Amino acid sequence: MFYLLYGLLCFCAMERARLTRGQEDDGKRYICRAVAISGDPSCPVTLLPDLSVGGQEEELRNTVMQLRETISQQKETISKQLGTINELTTKLSLCASATNDRKYGKGGSWGKDKQNTMGDVPRDPNDSIENLGKTMQGLKDRLENLEQMRANVSGVSFPSELRDLLQRRLGELEKQLLKKVSSLEEEKSVLSNATAAYRMKTESALNALVERISELEKGGGDFKSPEQFKLCLPQRTNYLYGRITKTLPEMYAFTICMWIRSSSSPGIGTPFSYGVPGQANEIVLIEWGNNPIELLINDKVAQLPLEVRDGKWHHICICWTTRDGQWEAYQDGERLGAGDNLAAWHPIKPGGVIILGQEQDVVGGRFDAGQAFVGELSQVNIWDRILKPTEIQSMANCSSYIPGNVISWLASNVEVFGRGASKRPLEICRERVPNA
Ligand SMILES: *[C@@H]1O[C@H](CO)[C@@H](O)[C@H](O)[C@H]1NC(C)=O
Ligand SMILES: *[C@@H]1O[C@H](CO)[C@@H](O)[C@H](O)[C@H]1NC(C)=O
Ligand SMILES: *[C@@H]1O[C@H](CO)[C@@H](O)[C@H](O)[C@H]1NC(C)=O
Ligand SMILES: *[C@@H]1O[C@H](CO)[C@@H](O)[C@H](O)[C@H]1NC(C)=O
Repeated sequence: MFYLLYGLLCFCAMERARLTRGQEDDGKRYICRAVAISGDPSCPVTLLPDLSVGGQEEELRNTVMQLRETISQQKETISKQLGTINELTTKLSLCASATNDRKYGKGGSWGKDKQNTMGDVPRDPNDSIENLGKTMQGLKDRLENLEQMRANVSGVSFPSELRDLLQRRLGELEKQLLKKVSSLEEEKSVLSNATAAYRMKTESALNALVERISELEKGGGDFKSPEQFKLCLPQRTNYLYGRITKTLPEMYAFTICMWIRSSSSPGIGTPFSYGVPGQANEIVLIEWGNNPIELLINDKVAQLPLEVRDGKWHHICICWTTRDGQWEAYQDGERLGAGDNLAAWHPIKPGGVIILGQEQDVVGGRFDAGQAFVGELSQVNIWDRILKPTEIQSMANCSSYIPGNVISWLASNVEVFGRGASKRPLEICRERVPNA
């Protein structure tokens, strides 16, 4: 369409030699004589440029400038975000390689922790950022064209129909551009949400690693490595117990594993209890009287086919999911039982208190000596997912140690209460395996 303009040659008798781009209309009227290329002397078009056009064009130009500004700002923001992501990724990989260098113990493989966590990190948002960058480059080119065209328009005079046509066309382009910019804004908001989520995931993975590294650097207190300690509760009282200093998030599934040793009779009592406001029995593991070990969730009960009170170490794991309330119970790496309809569709409530060795009648207290655990506990780890049978087996047969992603057994996470209760070094794994 634009090339139509070249079909027309205008010789303008101007008072000034030339109208330069960006110069304001000084209100002077120019007398133009249009001459057709063919040389037809009776050019029918005589032009007296409309005074208001200059103002409109100025406005259009400003709009275009503003659009350019917006787009270049967006580009800057996005490249900043990209910088942040790269920085975090670098940090994380540095941290991860530092961690791998610090493996300890025989077959210790808690490097798996890193792999598991990284599996959850969403895909790198590089792709979308790149695409966005390309789109914006394209837009920028179009804007430049538009400006060029505008400059050409203001430098030449032509018939009012043509000018109107041109103005309409420019108006349309401008509208399209505005639409594109607003969809870009939206895309950027989605992207920055994704970036924020990615950053949160990365940071929490980073924090978990930093926590473990600093535990390792401290040498885990008096213990060979941070998880090589046990909690000893030698008497049946209502005041000896351990408290985990961290709480649980809302969970739709979990696995709790622990090493346990007790010879107490008639029952071993309550090795584990988690109470939340309004429900002291949110998760409880208890053996009392001559009953088998019971798992309580939201005060609903399942009896578990576990037998541990022979005075030897045993590795036990309990898995549960809200989906139909399915549960599984493992002892020494073997799955001994499973069932369903235990607190089905109930989400585990967050923010409660985990007590080792006592049953809570109110959150964090009102213990009953008759339900206290007597014996030793170690490596009480909690995950917010169901572990695979091979993962459980490999922990029970000492070929790996996987720290919980929700609660990890660390000396700094376990407080001991009551005279006689203590944290002591743990026997090496192979000495704990029952049939060794
Ligand atoms: C993301 O982009 C940056 C720079 O463009 C690049 O160095 C990095 O390798 C990219 N990351 C991935 C995972 O593609
Ligand atoms: C504007 O005019 C210049 C020459 O005056 C030409 O090179 C350029 O291609 C024109 N721009 C457009 C968009 O037609
Ligand atoms: C980004 O997140 C905020 C709050 O988290 C939300 O209000 C907004 O709708 C989200 N934007 C998009 C495009 O998803
Ligand atoms: C321990 O269990 C894992 C997982 O089932 C298995 O791959 C591994 O061979 C076992 N190791 C020993 C020493 O039994």
